[in-house]
Amino acid sequence: MHKPSLIVIDVRKVTSLKVKMCRAVCLLALIVLISPAAEALDNGLALKPTMGWLHWERFMCNINCDKDPNNCISERLYMQMADVMVKEGWKEAGYEYVCIDDCWPSHRRDAKGRLQADPKRFPGGIKKLADYVHSKGLKLGIYADVGKNTCAGYPGSLGYYETDAQTFADWDVDLLKFDGCNMDWTLLGEGYVNMSKALNKTGRSILYSCEWPLYEWPFQKPNYTAIRETCNHWRNFADVYDSWSSVKSILDWTASHQDIIAPSAGPGGWNDPDMLVIGNFGLSHDQQESQMALWAIMAAPLLVSNDLRDICPRSKELLQNRHIIAISQDALGKQGYRTAKVDSFEVWERRLSKNRLAIAVMNKQEIGGPRGFYVAAAPGWKICDPECNVTQILPQYKEMGVQTPHTKMVVSVNPSGTTLLTVTPTSSDFTGLYKLHWNDTSVKRRQNIIL
Ligand code: GLA
Repeated sequence: MHKPSLIVIDVRKVTSLKVKMCRAVCLLALIVLISPAAEALDNGLALKPTMGWLHWERFMCNINCDKDPNNCISERLYMQMADVMVKEGWKEAGYEYVCIDDCWPSHRRDAKGRLQADPKRFPGGIKKLADYVHSKGLKLGIYADVGKNTCAGYPGSLGYYETDAQTFADWDVDLLKFDGCNMDWTLLGEGYVNMSKALNKTGRSILYSCEWPLYEWPFQKPNYTAIRETCNHWRNFADVYDSWSSVKSILDWTASHQDIIAPSAGPGGWNDPDMLVIGNFGLSHDQQESQMALWAIMAAPLLVSNDLRDICPRSKELLQNRHIIAISQDALGKQGYRTAKVDSFEVWERRLSKNRLAIAVMNKQEIGGPRGFYVAAAPGWKICDPECNVTQILPQYKEMGVQTPHTKMVVSVNPSGTTLLTVTPTSSDFTGLYKLHWNDTSVKRRQNIIL
């Protein structure tokens, strides 16, 4: 770690007047936004953001098992991932689902109209694979599509929702990722709801991961109340790629729609900003830390898409960082959001259980070296009144001791990196809670006024 030459930006003076100006408006917003998230899909699943491994970003539709047996979509790949998940501490860290994405089925349904796995690549069939994954204490996820075909051209479930739900249940599958390609958009909602009902009818607990809003956004604003009642998580935005520009575009989209999407997240249903691409080729270590920190702040499913058999130790350590995972899985189940954007810093905050707060400060200035940020300038810092305990989690774990509302504490943030903190009020009679409620509500307005 190099020692940063700090350029300190004091945004407190700039923000204080604006904060006062919007306080009245924000109090109004409080009434609207502290109301609890709508009813979640009542299947008892995803009470915390799902954790697991999903093949798509890293292995895509590689079906060439003759030339590339090690990386093709075959039962071997998932069995090997399951083995590594147990041996290398992934399961212990909380990663539980081993998920198949597109390109697993045969191009033809069987004589009874049921989907079947490609016989060459899955000689044992999906039931055997599920048994294997279960024998490791893990769960198996599978993929299908609400329309006529999957995105990669395999058979879709349109006209077969009940058959396919029952087939997955018979195979003892634990999660269904249901894509939205090749479907008339006006029928998307009906399709997603019908598959949800079909899954429920099987009597098996199958976590239901949707892409409904992603496919609806180009035409109309999705109904997040209905989506939350139907799905355990839902993709809103484009597929993640193994690049910083892709991760940034997901964060930008999320921040600019946070007033619409953040309130719909909670135990049982989560916004899904897509896979973690940590441990691949495209992100620097600082960028990997940013993705991990921000996915935890967003209460996002932590579905890793990389090659767990061959991953650099630092990426592995980051993905298994128990302090970050604790933020992701926090019992309060509230999604965090961007609370300030100033001088190429972004501050993202998430309320945690026991009146704590997670604060992520991301340095978006991609030139120069590390820059300093006064933590007291973070909008949520008001919970540190009269005192709080601060722990730095990224870039390295450090107890920062007791701080006050007017602390001069500065954190250093690398370009495209993130410093992640947790803030714990020291006394139970701290006055910050009321203010935090205020802070908690001003999702959109704060963006307009303070930023
Ligand atoms: C869509 C989804 C991806 C992946 C591919 C598979 O693009 O958004 O996550 O499932 O289809 O074809």
